[in-house]
Amino acid sequence: MPIEQGAASENEAQIAVHWKEEGCILPSPQFIGQANLVDAAVLDRFKEEHFPECFREYADLLDWNHYWHTTLDTSDPPFWKWFTGGTLNACYNCVDRHLAKYKSKAALIFVPEPEDEPAHTVTYQELFTRVNEVAAVLRDFCGLKAGDRVTIHMPMIPELPITMLACARLGVIHSVVFGGFSGEAAGLRAADSGSRVMIYADGYVRNGKIVDHKPSADIAVEAAQKEGQKVEKILVWRRYAGRNLSSKPMVPGRDYFMDEVLKDFKRAKVDPVSMDAEAPLFLMYTSGTTGKPKGCQHRTGGYLAYVTGTSKYYQDIRPEDVYWCMADIGWITGHSYIVYGPLALAATSVIYEGVPTYPDPGRPWRIAEQLDVNIFHTSPTAIRMLRKTGPDEPKKYNYRFKHMTTVGEPIEPETWRWYYEAVGKSRAVIVDTWWQTETGGFLCSTIPALDPMKPGSAGPAALGIYPAIYDEQGQEVPLGSNKAGNICIRNPWPGIMQTIWGDRDRFVKQYYSKYCRNPQSKDWRDWPYFAADGALLAPDRYYRILGRVDDVINVAGHRLGTKELESACLTVKEVAEAAVVPVVDELKGRVPVVYVSLKPGVSDAKRVAAEIITTLETMIGKIARPKAVHVVPDLPKTRSGKIMRRVLAAISNNMKTGDVTTLANPEIVEVIRLEVQGIDPVVLREGPEDVRRFGEAE
Ligand code: WTA
Repeated sequence: MPIEQGAASENEAQIAVHWKEEGCILPSPQFIGQANLVDAAVLDRFKEEHFPECFREYADLLDWNHYWHTTLDTSDPPFWKWFTGGTLNACYNCVDRHLAKYKSKAALIFVPEPEDEPAHTVTYQELFTRVNEVAAVLRDFCGLKAGDRVTIHMPMIPELPITMLACARLGVIHSVVFGGFSGEAAGLRAADSGSRVMIYADGYVRNGKIVDHKPSADIAVEAAQKEGQKVEKILVWRRYAGRNLSSKPMVPGRDYFMDEVLKDFKRAKVDPVSMDAEAPLFLMYTSGTTGKPKGCQHRTGGYLAYVTGTSKYYQDIRPEDVYWCMADIGWITGHSYIVYGPLALAATSVIYEGVPTYPDPGRPWRIAEQLDVNIFHTSPTAIRMLRKTGPDEPKKYNYRFKHMTTVGEPIEPETWRWYYEAVGKSRAVIVDTWWQTETGGFLCSTIPALDPMKPGSAGPAALGIYPAIYDEQGQEVPLGSNKAGNICIRNPWPGIMQTIWGDRDRFVKQYYSKYCRNPQSKDWRDWPYFAADGALLAPDRYYRILGRVDDVINVAGHRLGTKELESACLTVKEVAEAAVVPVVDELKGRVPVVYVSLKPGVSDAKRVAAEIITTLETMIGKIARPKAVHVVPDLPKTRSGKIMRRVLAAISNNMKTGDVTTLANPEIVEVIRLEVQGIDPVVLREGPEDVRRFGEAE
């Protein structure tokens, strides 16, 4: 029975939350009967008193060249080291070690967007051959060696994981930039990581159209150059053999078609380089609270152990499963749960090139039926979109999921129920997995065969993860108080990032300074990890995640930094000031809305607004396209001159603006309100917590 929870009083440090508790749903006996993890004794093994040794269980899923001597080294907080003394190779663990048993089994199945192009299977044997050849190119043609960085800006084609694994084979650190990001964004990331080689594709197919991707390479090289980084080589994969999808000429001496270079490396073999457990495996750039994206640096041993363990226990993956995660490999979800986790377990991982609703919203279910997918993984945004455009489509197809995941943003119980009933046919279990780019793998989720599902709640802490919810003063929000606060993880875990590439101070400041009890302490208990998400803990110890508390906008499950968007707006020369705030969107969760004031004498507001939109698309990518650009006479500011984004967020979301009398320019609020909402009265609503608090961190 749903229980109505009482409203609680509100103060600055704690936020009251008012909603119904949802009833729970149990996993089916069929699921439990076949699951990887059915013995509740695991909960004891991962109790705090067994930390950190409990994580041996994950590390033992890997093949090590040299076994480690210390599970967790805390000598340099908060730069934890895992499995020190150990050496291994990530590519070996995802490819070579499976050959003995599974060489003829599909490792990857590539599904092109055009439906008349057949799906293409890459067996483990083929994967081994191709990864070796590419590794030989990187080593012998590009001169890359362990520790060097390579930026990969590619769409969803099998050559993307193949290139990543080839890097891992050599100990080269890959930095994959989401294919939908602009060339400029890729170039800045290449410069930050110091990449002298970038890897591209000529083009790809999306929404029924060919996208010419190669021009991004030229833009990236230029953007990197401006930052002082010379990109010497661009390797270009061709989407279709013998055909060039790009209109852009290749630059002699810099650009090379991969298929042509590969001719000299046929059947080349490259021994996997034995890497220190702490050697970086990859960088993944993500938005933070300041303008510049942070390169989250992930380690080889701990990361691989963590994603392999969580893929096995939470995704319930086995070699005989056909697993399809619809995310893009250019995000952390794709790294951990399309490439490294599933391949380390010898699963078959499906890679779909295009948009889920192309050519119609039945497409995902046709793919699932044709390939016999039994584990499915996607985001609330995709679920909302598929529900809106094709609510009855799933029942037309004869696929059978045993397990489904949702990730990336909070899922409303309504959407959850459609996922469960329509997509999962009331048979598949659902795990709602809460985690972040920084955390490598899941932090909260139900264990699918052991824990009941609760729509809208991520569930209990993952094995070996000990969270706490703190208020702004660092007091733990008591269990059962029905108050939300900042969710933190009290302990280190193997999947946590090592540092921000090249910026140790920022790493400490962003994630640890807020709640560190004693900066001198070498005891991990004094160093809680601050996740910057609001959360609420129910009496049953299920966490409900409320969204970001910092000024990051989560668009369709992807983080965009407000400051990054604002600095892009400011490159339009007529713009004097810019503020970007989130607005609630039915499909994407949140989308950015831009407010700008213009320099004196500029009258052509419409043209400037259009230019701002183009600028955001070119500098960041289409994902940053704002829902609206409001050109206003001035922005609301505090007396110390800070822009009050919270007030703008309230106006855009039809929420109460609260007391504005202390502003330096309170009269502007009404002017802006009229501009945005018009003269008709609007119904004000309470608005979600992340929007209410937006920009308060300032
Ligand atoms: C949000 C994606 C609610 C959260 C893996 C987090 C979620 C940010 C969930 C990280 C979930 C992710 N429920 N919110 N199941 N999963 N989030 O770095 O705000 O792209 O901080 O990593 O997404 O986004 P990121």
